[in-house]
Amino acid sequence: MRPDGPPDWPSRDPEIAAALQHAWDNGTWGKYHGVHCDKLEERLREYLGVSHVLLCGSGTYAVELALRALGVGPGDEVLLAAYDYPGNFLCVHAVGAQPVLVDVRPENWNVSLDAVRAGLGASTKVIIASHLHGGVVPMRELTELARVHKIAVIEDAAQCPGARVQGQMAGRWGDVGIFSFGGSKLLSAGRGGAFVTERADLHQRARNWQLRGNLVCPLSELQAAVLLPQLARLDERNAKRQSAVEKLRQLLAGVPGLSPFRNPPAWDWAAGYYKCGFQLDEQAFGLTRGLLVKAARAEGIALDEGFAGLHVGRSPKRYRLGGPLSEADRAHQGCVVLHHPVLLEDDAALEQIARAVRRIHGARAELARLP
Ligand SMILES: Cc1ncc(COP(=O)(O)O)c(C=O)c1O
Repeated sequence: MRPDGPPDWPSRDPEIAAALQHAWDNGTWGKYHGVHCDKLEERLREYLGVSHVLLCGSGTYAVELALRALGVGPGDEVLLAAYDYPGNFLCVHAVGAQPVLVDVRPENWNVSLDAVRAGLGASTKVIIASHLHGGVVPMRELTELARVHKIAVIEDAAQCPGARVQGQMAGRWGDVGIFSFGGSKLLSAGRGGAFVTERADLHQRARNWQLRGNLVCPLSELQAAVLLPQLARLDERNAKRQSAVEKLRQLLAGVPGLSPFRNPPAWDWAAGYYKCGFQLDEQAFGLTRGLLVKAARAEGIALDEGFAGLHVGRSPKRYRLGGPLSEADRAHQGCVVLHHPVLLEDDAALEQIARAVRRIHGARAELARLP
C-alpha cells in the first residue's frame, strides 16, 4: 500500500540545517560552552511554565537524576505501571530501590489510579507516572493522592512534549517532570533529555549529582542548537498529529479487535503522539500481533509491538507486586503502536493505512496459514 515505506525521521527542516550551519560558523558545534544550552533551558522554562530545567544526555538519565534528587535509595519503594518503559524499572534498581508494579487502566493502558492507591506501602517514596502512546494520566488526582500520602511524583513526559492534561502542560505536574530528545522522539537530537521542576532543592540536588568536575551525561551545544527550531514548531505539529489521529480513529472504526487508546474527555487533554497506541484483541481481529505487525510493515507502515510487561520474564524478587496485573497482561500481549512521522503526512497517507489494515484483516485466514 505504501511502497516507499514509512517516512523518515527526524524531518529535514531548513531551520535545522540553518541551526547546524550557524553552530558551524560560530564554532559552538565543538565547544563545551555556548549560547544554545542556556537558550534551550530558557525556552523550555517559558514553554512549560516551569521554574527550573536541567538538560542531560537522555530521558533515562533524567529519570535517574529525578530519583537521586528525591533521595531514593535502598529500603525505598518506587511505584510504577507494570506496562511502562523498561528503563524506568531499571533506573529504580540503579539507585538501589525496589520497584512496585501496579496495573494500568483498561481504556488507555496508562497507570491506573485505583491500582496506585492499592499498591502503596509503608516504604513507597515515589510514583513514576508515564504518559504513553497518546494516553494520558489524570495528574490532578494522582498528585493529590501523592500529596495525601506524602509521596513524590516523577511525571514521565518523554513521549509527549507539549501535551496537556487537565489544563496544564504534561511534565509540569509532578515534583519532577522528564523529557526525552532521543533519535525517534517528537523533539529529536539523536540523544538527550531534560529534568524539569518547580522545586529549587531538587534542581540543586540533581545539578550537584550531574556535576563531577565536569558535567556527567550532558546535552551538547550542538544538540541544543537543533532542538531550538523544533521546539518552535512543536505546537503546530502536535495539533496536526492530534487531528491525524482523530481522522485515523474514524477511518479504522468498525475494524474488529483493534481500537486506539482512549482518554476520558473529562480530563481535558491534548495528547502527544510519539507513538499512537492501539489495543489489539488477537482473537477478535483474527490474527496474532506478530503477524499483524509483520503484514503492516510489508505494507510500508511503521507499526510495532508495544513494550513488554515489566513483570514478564523477570524474577519476582526484583519487584513487589502491587496488585493484580490483568490489564498489564493484556497490554503486554496486545499493544501495538504506530510511529508518529506518518501523522504529519496528508489524509491520503492515513487512508492508505486504514485500507492496509482492512486488507490485512480481510486476508487474516491466508496470513495465519503462512509458514
Ligand atoms: C516513556 C519513556 N520514558 C523514558 C524514555 C527514555 O528516553 P531516552 O531514550 O532519551 O533515554 C523513553 C524512551 O523511549 C520513554 O518512552
